[in-house]
Amino acid sequence: MKTNSITQFPYGTVILNKEKFVEVLSQVVSLSDLNSIKNRIFTLKDIITKDKKDQESILNIDANGDTISLRRDILVSELDQILKSQTLERAKYYLNRLIKGIQKVKTSKINDINLLRWKEYDDIITDSLWILDKRDNSGAHLAWYWGNFVPQIPRQMMLRYTKKGEWVLDTFVGSGTTLIECRRLGRNGIGIELNPQVAQKAKELIEREPNKYNVVSEVIVGDSRTIDIKQILDKFGINKIQLLIMHPPYHDIIKFSEDERDLSNAKSIEQFLKMFGDVVDNATPYLEKGRYFALVIGDKYSKGEWIPLGFYCMHEVLKRGYLLKSIIVKNFEDTRGKRSQKELWRYRALVGGFYIFKHEYIMLFKKQ
Ligand SMILES: C[S@@+](CC[C@H](N)C(=O)[O-])C[C@H]1O[C@@H](n2cnc3c(N)ncnc32)[C@H](O)[C@@H]1O
Repeated sequence: MKTNSITQFPYGTVILNKEKFVEVLSQVVSLSDLNSIKNRIFTLKDIITKDKKDQESILNIDANGDTISLRRDILVSELDQILKSQTLERAKYYLNRLIKGIQKVKTSKINDINLLRWKEYDDIITDSLWILDKRDNSGAHLAWYWGNFVPQIPRQMMLRYTKKGEWVLDTFVGSGTTLIECRRLGRNGIGIELNPQVAQKAKELIEREPNKYNVVSEVIVGDSRTIDIKQILDKFGINKIQLLIMHPPYHDIIKFSEDERDLSNAKSIEQFLKMFGDVVDNATPYLEKGRYFALVIGDKYSKGEWIPLGFYCMHEVLKRGYLLKSIIVKNFEDTRGKRSQKELWRYRALVGGFYIFKHEYIMLFKKQ
């Protein structure tokens, strides 16, 4: 393929002829005084921030070879770092790091994040407090299901804890949010849902999402406590999944059905925890060792008492030998709730001496 050394694409991406760009940088790194390096980098930065015509005329490179796309703002900031270097050694260190990031890919065993270009992943959250201002309502994410979670949750989990082509199991798939995200990110997804009507609607929505990576999206109607997961995996010729996601009912806060096998119909907290534990027991053998289990859960109020459902569930998981990796606290985004309703709750909170629920948890475990 014949490519120009640098072509700018929209959204701040610069497409480079990899070999040529490395060659240019290597020439710069071989210079023996700081000022000459800075002069060359200054010109390069100018080229990268200018339009295509200028790039060709200044660099005058037309060559065959592989291309690489880089975030322009990050590349410019790396060049700026070189320009700000106080010593020759520092400048060369930054230059060599830039060259390495272009030439090589370094990922861990559990995701596709290229650690040599980690700065480009600023969409990946690494803090334990998530304040999301709005849900992602794009494409098939219609948010029609009362009690669904925001797509950002499975998305973040998959980006950090799976590679493309791996398998994700969601044992309370509801409206299919996880499986829609799986399609977007190129992960195979299996979802189990007790309510056949909900499962049917989820299937229809998932099918509306383009499947550009040609992944499997399988929604199965069943009770996650007892369903034969081995049989499901056998069908696809696999025996392990790489990420387990659970978003169970928060006990009886929302009643999902009349079915007594539904966790939202548990008669007590104890029964709820027993049912939840059964689902964990049923799924755990199929999660690959060293891989992650994300539990999304909130607390509840009952008869004037805060019930720490999230921590009770966490305890159930820990009893089963998992390692706790994080407790993420995520806000409830503002719903379109009426102002008068909000004021009423605020008044009640002041009278009753309690706080209004504004958060839920994403508890993250690693299978040992
Ligand atoms: C909190 S919702 C999950 C919502 C989902 N994350 C989404 O974005 O749509 C919990 C779901 O678990 C289902 N459920 C309850 N008990 C179940 C069981 N024993 N087996 C499988 N699914 C169950 C409910 O029908 C409900 O759809």
